[in-house]
Amino acid sequence: MKKTWGGRFSQSADPTAERFTGSLAVDQRLWPYDLAGSVAWARALVRTGLLTTAEGDTIVKGLEAVRAELEAGTFPFRPELEDIHTNVERRLLELVGDVGGKLHTGRSRNDQIAVDERLYLRDVVGGTVAGLRGAQEALLARAADTVETPMPGYTHLQRAQPVVLAHHLLAYVFMLQRDRERFVDCERRASVLPLGAAALAGTAFAIDREALARDLGFPAVSANSLDAVSDRDYVVEYLAAAAITGVHFSRLAADLTLWATAEFGFVEFADAWATGSSIMPQKKNPDVAELIRGKSGRLHGNLVAVLTTMKGLPLAYNSDMQEDKEPLFDSVDTLAAILAVLPPMLASLTFRADRMRAAAGENFATATDLADYLVRKGLPFRQAHEVVGRVVRHAVGRGVGLEALSLDELRGFSELMAADVHQALTVDASLRARSVTGGTAHAAVRRALAQARELVRA
Ligand code: ARG
Repeated sequence: MKKTWGGRFSQSADPTAERFTGSLAVDQRLWPYDLAGSVAWARALVRTGLLTTAEGDTIVKGLEAVRAELEAGTFPFRPELEDIHTNVERRLLELVGDVGGKLHTGRSRNDQIAVDERLYLRDVVGGTVAGLRGAQEALLARAADTVETPMPGYTHLQRAQPVVLAHHLLAYVFMLQRDRERFVDCERRASVLPLGAAALAGTAFAIDREALARDLGFPAVSANSLDAVSDRDYVVEYLAAAAITGVHFSRLAADLTLWATAEFGFVEFADAWATGSSIMPQKKNPDVAELIRGKSGRLHGNLVAVLTTMKGLPLAYNSDMQEDKEPLFDSVDTLAAILAVLPPMLASLTFRADRMRAAAGENFATATDLADYLVRKGLPFRQAHEVVGRVVRHAVGRGVGLEALSLDELRGFSELMAADVHQALTVDASLRARSVTGGTAHAAVRRALAQARELVRA
């Protein structure tokens, strides 16, 4: 197959080298964007007078015929033509004849791939953000039922203080809100038109880049041609946002898998969202959650892959950059896959409110409340901490919880203990005390729920 650069070459390509440098299998999914960029470029050439209106029409019609073939699945993909750009251009030539050879005037595959990728990114970000919103809605639905479901809150994976389940779930809603903002922000910076940079130095024809930008829906044009063709920040930013989102999903999945253990017993996965064991008949495994956690690994790997590829590349375009697409597409697909399973899986969970409630008050979970009680009676907090530490040591020795200690026993540690002390040690009192904005009191959680709903729907 004759190459687009055939004139300079006296030998045909080594088939092994050709297979190695080709990227069609990966970049063919960019075809809708490649066509959009080419149609807009043809119109820009007409406006500049490089194509007559009739030539422009022929090329645009030819590109529409190419689109029809791609949509119908009849397009003759030729891997030996290296990438999607050359495949589309060659097919155009076949369909419209020599005039098709005018399309690449003043353009390079270097600015072409950059515009394709930016258009692709702008297209997929909407889906990613909508998917994140779906995950938030699923969390909000579970949070709405569990504002009054106490559970142990943990630090160091040790029971720490009571919280309510809704508070725990809402933590993830706020994380995903930041993720959404990162994707929107990434799209904003990706929305700069690189076309017109050509290979590296800027096109030599008087293209109206602003009009071209308007045509393609870009609010701005790149200010430096070298930057325009060598920049892959928009890929890195998407991958970084995806990697951070992956951390959040992974932590949520880690919570759920832990809660599903016999040791915790806080949640049960529906049969439809769990798997069994090929040997142990009793097993029910939270595979969906585990794989959500596992897939965050590839989201992180994809980011590191592109950062590593870009690091140390001299300006401007280098073929190394062709390696950005597999990681980008993989992260887009991986996120979409996670976002498809997460909401129904969350909806199918059965929370064991009884077990959570019982656990919420165990293991001295309200010891801080006892210290706070003494503080309210006038004791400096450091002394209160010391006193309660001794009370806990005493209770551990007796093998009982704080609530089982009599008032007399408690007064042995501090005269400030009074008849109302046992009331302060209950889970309900502990929760009620934390009515500060962002706290776990029912009223505060209801306010946070309302705030989260508003953010999510905005
Ligand atoms: N397939 C290339 C890529 O993905 C397109 C740009 C190729 N440019 C070049 N001079 N080889 O980056």
